[in-house]
Amino acid sequence: MKDKEIERLIQLEEKRQRGVINLIASENYTSQDILKALGSVFTNKYAEGYPGKRYYGGNEVVDKIENLAKERALKLFIRQLADRKKWSVNVQPYSGSPANLAVYLALVPIGQKIMGMSLSMGGHLTHGHKVSATGKLWNWVHFGVSKKTELLDYDEIRKIARREKPKMIVAGFTAYSRVIDFKKLRKFARSARRDDIF
Ligand SMILES: Cc1ncc(COP(=O)(O)O)c(C=O)c1O
Repeated sequence: MKDKEIERLIQLEEKRQRGVINLIASENYTSQDILKALGSVFTNKYAEGYPGKRYYGGNEVVDKIENLAKERALKLFIRQLADRKKWSVNVQPYSGSPANLAVYLALVPIGQKIMGMSLSMGGHLTHGHKVSATGKLWNWVHFGVSKKTELLDYDEIRKIARREKPKMIVAGFTAYSRVIDFKKLRKFARSARRDDIF
């Protein structure tokens, strides 16, 4: 590298990472292949829009790589070939926070109500915390865990959902190490539904 100061800091960070045990679930050590791909010539390219529908020219190779990523993601998450045809996947968010934003923007009109776990109980900033754009753009109702058992209090969640009738319940958390009863949460979301709610 020409910039020796930056090179030294990259090496210093590599040394730091090799010397610690990291227990943050959303940080992980990528392979050399991933590091190589992320530092490739694709960094030079603008690619707003979607494959075949870009705002700039020169995206014929970018389109190939995005379509390949979509195909692979569908294969990974949807087992049946027939079902794969019913689904599409957006592989553009570079991490969890913009992915959450993309889902909220796609499903819930700005200003409407979403329910999620509060940060202090194990949720994430993007679950409507006031310092996050998500907290500024939607109206959030939060739930948490029972102070006694430290487990999700499903009765309480059901009650809040019935009372608040949110457009969506975020059923995923940052710091909750127990099995989540997704079926139950789905049922609560459905029972909170009014005619104008999907
Ligand atoms: C539940 C949840 N959602 C979103 C995020 C944000 O992900 P990222 O930091 O990859 O943007 C995290 C990160 O820990 C998370 O735990």
